[in-house]
Amino acid sequence: LASIEVDVSAVEEGQSISVKWRGKPVFIRNRTDAEVEDANAVAVSDLPDPLARNANLPADAEATDVNRGIEGNEKLLVQVGICTHLGCVPVGDAGEYGGWFCPCHGSHYDTAGRIRKGPAPENLLIPPLEMVSETTIKIG
Ligand code: FES
Repeated sequence: LASIEVDVSAVEEGQSISVKWRGKPVFIRNRTDAEVEDANAVAVSDLPDPLARNANLPADAEATDVNRGIEGNEKLLVQVGICTHLGCVPVGDAGEYGGWFCPCHGSHYDTAGRIRKGPAPENLLIPPLEMVSETTIKIG
C-alpha cells in the first residue's frame, strides 16, 4: 500500500507505537510537554543537521521542533524508524538526549528525532503525512 491510516487515539502521552509503511518501521510518539520543551530549548545552530528533513516542508526548512512535528499537533512526532547512518532501527526512550538511540554504532537522537551525537549524518526522516481526522494520521 502506498499510504496507510493510523488511529492514534489510544497512544497516550509519553507512549510510542511503531507501524509499517512501505516495508519500513514508522515511529509515532505522543510526546510529553517536557519532551517538546527540551526540543524547543535547542538552537538550530547547535544541531549537527540543521534541516528539518520533513517531507511535508520545503527541503531547506530548518530543524526547529515545530518543523519536525505535525502542524497543530506538535506533540505528535512521526518518523521513519531507520537510522540515517547505515539503516539500523533505533531504540526509543533511550540515548543521551532522551529520544532514540541506535545501538549499531552509537547515534543519539533527541526528543524531536534530530541527530545530536554519533555517526548518523541526518535527522530521522519525517514521511509525507496529514491528519485526516483529529486522531487519524494518513502516512504516505
Ligand atoms: Fe545507526 Fe550506524 S546504523 S549508528
